[in-house]
Parts: sequence; structure tokens; C-alpha cells
Amino acid sequence: MIIKSIYLENFRNHRERFFEFKNGINLVLGKNASGKSNLLEAIYFCFCGKSFKAKDVNLINFESEYFKLDASVFDNDFEHRILCYVDRFFQKKIMVNEKRISRLSELLEKFRFVYFEPDSTELVKQDPKVRRKFLDMEISKIYPYMIKTYQDYQKALMSRNAFLKSYDKKDIIDVYDVELAKLGYKIYKKREEIVKRLSEFTKQVWYDVFEHRSTIDIVYRASIESSSQEEYYTELKKRFEKDIKFGFTTGGVHRDDFDILINSKSAKEYASEGQIKLACIAIYLASAKLFERPILLLDDIFSELDDERKKNVLDLCRDYQAIITSAEEKENLIAAGLIEGDINVVQL
Ligand SMILES: Nc1ncnc2c1ncn2[C@@H]1O[C@H](COP(=O)(O)OP(=O)(O)OP(=O)(O)O)[C@@H](O)[C@H]1O
Ligand SMILES: [Mg+2]
Repeated sequence: MIIKSIYLENFRNHRERFFEFKNGINLVLGKNASGKSNLLEAIYFCFCGKSFKAKDVNLINFESEYFKLDASVFDNDFEHRILCYVDRFFQKKIMVNEKRISRLSELLEKFRFVYFEPDSTELVKQDPKVRRKFLDMEISKIYPYMIKTYQDYQKALMSRNAFLKSYDKKDIIDVYDVELAKLGYKIYKKREEIVKRLSEFTKQVWYDVFEHRSTIDIVYRASIESSSQEEYYTELKKRFEKDIKFGFTTGGVHRDDFDILINSKSAKEYASEGQIKLACIAIYLASAKLFERPILLLDDIFSELDDERKKNVLDLCRDYQAIITSAEEKENLIAAGLIEGDINVVQL
């Protein structure tokens, strides 16, 4: 899958800009605050129907009433034309091939991408919620029907928690337990499968791009270990007294996590800043292998990497279409042997 072009009108600092991209590596270069991250955010918006960090209205240029995006994406030889429109009067319209899109899953079904941005290093440092969100997003991109499973799980969980808070001995909790066990086990199995694959791919990337001396592993930590829906249900039941005492559901996929281990030790606890960044980059690049030819959107991935690692990252990206932003000077990148003939440079 490749993005051929995108037109931005009043999207953040871009008043009217048209960008074209080639297959392979596209380096978007520009000074700080020139709009590199905004360009990638615009592409992300086309693929997701929303920004990952801001409300729709905040994406509109300060001096404008609306923004428009118009992107052309090719999947095998088929062109998808994506049009997005958002204004300050709460109008929002996303069209793909002239058909209006109303659900995120419709976009995720069509477009495959990996998005790395500077805050992606939070994946190691932050609390489990960030890691669950990352994992569930990857799963939703591979299996868009899972979005509904996540929503239904959240609904069932909220109902069960409300029930636990106002528990009366006559009440019957079983209906919530059955629902949570059904959905929770489904989510658990998918997460376990993806973590296993991601761990293998991350090891490969770690070895090819970064480190030969150390190892990396990703291990899923389930708060309810189970090998069947029935077992999950039984485990949920066992926690009933505890759940009543705390007033919420203490076990289940909403409490799970995954550990990132470098040399078998928790990266969060022991790794250096540099290693944490490398681990996160490795995981994101590895996630590309979960999809068939996704587009890589890599915001500021070079910072803090030495030239050899930058080169290795570029080599890995050659198998995909990659759009990589950097605030480095073009001359410096040429001098370091990083810009070679087949790289398309977009200067902001
Ligand atoms: N809604 C908006 N309207 C106008 N300008 C905006 C809006 N939102 C953000 N900006 C501005 O866009 C500019 C470019 O931001 P962006 O994050 O894309 O820069 P960048 O090129 O990625 O810089 P860096 O190299 O520092 O990461 C910033 O100065 C920011 O203030
Ligand atoms: Mg930026």
C-alpha cells in the first residue's frame, strides 16, 4: 500500500500544501515547527478519521473556519481517494471513493499503516493502560471486528462495576460474568497471539537494526490466566468476594499488561533512556510485519540514533513505503551517507 499524494487546506499550520510521495523511502526535512509532524498527523487522520492526540477542532488552522484533506492511496493497483472535511460548526465528513464513512472500523479495514511519534517511547515508561491501548489498536488494525468486542467488554465491565458498588445479596451477578468471560477470553486470546508474533518480529528487528549483544522479549502478563472461556469464567467467579470488597472488577483483560524485557530484565525498571527508545522503535518497526505492506509513518525516529543505526533503520524501511520526518540538515544526512539515489526528499 502506498500514499501517492495528499493535499492539505487549513490543516494546522499548512494553509494550502500539496505533497507527493514515492514508493520506498520519503524523507520529510524541515526546521523545527515547520509542520513535519502536522503532515504526518494529517495522513494519520485520513487513515483513522481522527487525530491520536487532539480534538478535531484543534486541527483547524487558527485563522480558518475549516480544514480539508484530499489523499490518494494505492493498494495493489486500486486507487482510494480519501476526502476529509471538518469545520468549527461541528460538521465532519470523511469520504472514501465518494462513500461516506461513519465508523473507524471502515477505515481500519482499508488502510494499513504504522505510526511512530516521539511520545511512542511512553510504551515502555508509562502505565499498563498505554501498552493495552497500543496492543488493542494493533489488533483492531488487523481484525477490525474486534473494535466492537472492546466496546462491548467496556460496557459489560461498567455494568458489573456499578453492580458491585450497589451489591445486594439477592442480586444475580451471573449475567455480567458470563458476558465478561466470553468477551474477555476472546480479547485475551487475540492479545496473546499478537504479543507472541510481535515478540518474534521485535527480536529480529533488534538484531538486524540495533543490537547483537543483548536480547529483547515481550511477554504478556494476564491477570486471569486461562485456557478456555469456562476457566476464565471460573477465575472471575473466584474473585467475587474481593471484587465486592474493592467495589470493582479486580481481574480481567482490563487489568492485563505486557513486559518488555532486555536481557531478561524489565526495560521499564532497568534500561537506559537510549535502550528504551531503541526498544520502542524496534517494537513499532516490528509491528509493520504484522500487516501486508503497511505504510510507515515515522515522526522524528532518527533523533538520538547514531549514523549506523539510522542507516539500519533506513535499510529496513526500504521494504515498505516509509515517510520519515527529520529536523536534520539535508547536507549532514548526505555527508553521513544516509541520502542515496533512491530516497525521495521532501523539503518543508
Ligand atoms: N491549529 C493550528 N493552526 C495553526 N498552526 C498550528 C496549529 N496547531 C499547531 N500549529 C503550529 O504548527 C507548527 C508546526 O508544528 P509541527 O509539530 O508540525 O512542527 P515540526 O516540523 O514537527 O517541528 P519539530 O521539528 O520541532 O518536531 C507549530 O509552530 C505549531 O504551533
Ligand atoms: Mg515534529
